[in-house]
Amino acid sequence: MQYGYFDDANREYVITNPQTPWPWINYLGTEDFFSLISNTAGGYSFYKDAKFRRITRYRYNNVPMDSGGKYFYINEDGTVWSPGWKPCKTPLDSYECRHGMNYTKIKGSKNGLEAEVLYFVPLKTKAEVQLLTLRNTSSTVKTFKVFSFVEWCLWNAAADMENFQRNFSTGEVEVQGSVVYHKTEYKERRDHYAYYSVNAPIAGFETDRETFFGLYNGFDEPQTVLEGQTRNSVAHGWSPVASHCLELELQAGESKSFVFVLGYVENPQDQKWESKNIINKKPALEVIDKFDTIEKVIDSFNELKAYWDKLLSVYTVDSGNEKLDRMVNIWNQYQCMITFCFSRSASFFESGIGRGMGFRDSNQDLIGFVHQIPERARERIIDIASTQFQDGGCYHQYQPLTKKGNNEIGQGFNDDPLWLIIGTTSYIKESGDFSILEEPVPFDNEPGTEKSLFHHLTVSFDHVIHHLGPHGLPLIGRADWNDCLNLNCFSNDPNESFQTTENKTAGSKAESLMIAGQFVLYGREYAELCLRLGKKEEAERALKEVSKMTEAVIKHGWDGEWFLRAYDFDGNKIGSNENEEGKIFIESNGWCAMAGIGLEAGMVGKAMDAVNEKLDSEHGIVLNNPAFTKYYIEYGEISSYPPGYKENAGIFCHNNPWIMIGETIQGRGDRAWEYYRKISPAYTEAHSELHKVEPYVYAQMIAGKDAFRPGEAKNSWLTGTAAWNYYAITQYILGIKPDYDGLIVNPCIPADWKGFTVNRKFRGANYEIRISNPDGRMSGVRKLTLDGILLEGNHIPCQPNGDHLVLVEL
Ligand code: BGC
Repeated sequence: MQYGYFDDANREYVITNPQTPWPWINYLGTEDFFSLISNTAGGYSFYKDAKFRRITRYRYNNVPMDSGGKYFYINEDGTVWSPGWKPCKTPLDSYECRHGMNYTKIKGSKNGLEAEVLYFVPLKTKAEVQLLTLRNTSSTVKTFKVFSFVEWCLWNAAADMENFQRNFSTGEVEVQGSVVYHKTEYKERRDHYAYYSVNAPIAGFETDRETFFGLYNGFDEPQTVLEGQTRNSVAHGWSPVASHCLELELQAGESKSFVFVLGYVENPQDQKWESKNIINKKPALEVIDKFDTIEKVIDSFNELKAYWDKLLSVYTVDSGNEKLDRMVNIWNQYQCMITFCFSRSASFFESGIGRGMGFRDSNQDLIGFVHQIPERARERIIDIASTQFQDGGCYHQYQPLTKKGNNEIGQGFNDDPLWLIIGTTSYIKESGDFSILEEPVPFDNEPGTEKSLFHHLTVSFDHVIHHLGPHGLPLIGRADWNDCLNLNCFSNDPNESFQTTENKTAGSKAESLMIAGQFVLYGREYAELCLRLGKKEEAERALKEVSKMTEAVIKHGWDGEWFLRAYDFDGNKIGSNENEEGKIFIESNGWCAMAGIGLEAGMVGKAMDAVNEKLDSEHGIVLNNPAFTKYYIEYGEISSYPPGYKENAGIFCHNNPWIMIGETIQGRGDRAWEYYRKISPAYTEAHSELHKVEPYVYAQMIAGKDAFRPGEAKNSWLTGTAAWNYYAITQYILGIKPDYDGLIVNPCIPADWKGFTVNRKFRGANYEIRISNPDGRMSGVRKLTLDGILLEGNHIPCQPNGDHLVLVEL
């Protein structure tokens, strides 16, 4: 069953039934001010950091689900309703939510009155704008009241949920004209406040939550709204909110619009106050002025649209398959921008208070994002590298506001350093900017410790060879990509964190075949970079290590039909036919295949066949098989999950693309495509009721074949799935790959595809690349012409600015 449809022309997903199987959300803002908004207007806003600068409050995992948001209430003759259905849940005569590129439009109607709210964060603005339009579609005059609503968060979203003995006494607001200012803690060390305004005179307001709702009422029946009467409360402590009341009259057919601005201000220390205890409102009023007419709002909305037109024009495909085009041209790229902005911090599955930016996560996000805004990728790479230690190890996560490493989680995930290599080379290949390698970058953000970014890559590479186990394979540390394979943890205590507890390390023989494959692939990448820089000796040194690792994998990492996953603390095999459960894993097979280890000897082919036979399922490729049915203390968190969920044999959509790419390495386009299609949101939309989460973006996990409900997805939006699927489809299946000095064309497609066209903007030039497949092949470029000239091979050297036509025959 579907709950809406794709409107590709407008780049929107249109939800027509508010009761989606889970809140279906969208993100507003891509720079500093961010909001999450669900299809029923639930969600919250923050400035830069979802933990430290939370602007509005949200209640996670509540009953009912999705409580708290940017709500509007309408009271017409005692009938109280909301345009997004929630929170009132009054049955509507019509409902529609359009999630677009960084904006959401929610429209509802009741008894001949229509209310539409456009929510967006204008470019370069520290505020969310809400354009509310009310239309009288009836034939009689209508008089009614409209109430806005937001609930302030006391800034630190973690403390906001726990320290009530303090919190209930700190809240402070000011109200001036039609603006409510939230200034809790501004008197002390904070230099920031928030505000909520409307561009019209108001009939009243509320800033005290209990006065607005009544102590025993929910979001669905605020006392003020039900009574149609504000008390103009001014919050002192307790829970500050902001609600405006507008009294309106609309003639038949008439409509009126209002602009609400929810903003954030930082004032310099010496300009904090206007007078004693009165905050300096100038910066807020300037923003409010910028959006005080409908025209201004529409202009800035159009700017946002133009911005997205440009972002999405860098890579477009015309394949004749609308589902594929929709993913590549719109939604997958959009999700890549969102993961770039948020890493794994704030979604409806990530509370925004736990994780900041992940070292490996953010590097991976770059491979799907870098073509959109290379300059921002550059900045991100420097930020990430600055959280590295001198020996190449690195903080697993860092906080976006401070950019400092998270001490709670610390370091010791031995795959982390290698991701910096792919993040950086992806950037250089896209931009051609080698100067980033000379950028001085500190260690652990310690001034004075700066070394070139290139040096950071060297220590990343070396970190692996300084941490080898008894088979010459990489020691896993706390975990590799699979955070839940904790081979040194040995936890018997439910109060311990699998991620940070290492009850045994000395003498550990726990080695990872996933890191081994990754090292071979990115080690080669590093060596190639060295060669481009004229560092021949370093390249040779790297390649020597790469071949040692390749040999170690062939010798100690092959199980006969597939690659082993790891060796445990005591040196026992994991992911072997000898194991009772967890005989085969996706990660090591994906990585060793992508690295082409044993390709000629047929190992890659065999491994991919084993994956197909043992891990593939109706809804995608599961992580391991058989699923663990009991807790293995020597494996850690992975075996703590019920079978079929998360890292225990769930379909981790993040690593399905590793297998897609592994298949393309040996030219099997049909299988690569089949895997792509299975987990692609445009395809899973058809069974939204089962899939549950948004049909326009990837989820991290779909319950696997051993689960209670296979096919049910969780953890949508913030997942490396976005970048990896984008990377796999655009660079390996459609096969247009940026390289240091041009584009490589190497499609690997199902034999029955007749062809497709990709338009790629690359370093100032536009390439129209038309692929034709007259003989029904899956791969192999037979002929390539550039602007009418036949080229050898499949490499298009960088061309002068302007349009270029590339004709390719498979
Ligand atoms: C984490 C990733 C990790 C993956 C697999 C995700 O939740 O963000 O860093 O690789 O899980 O464990």
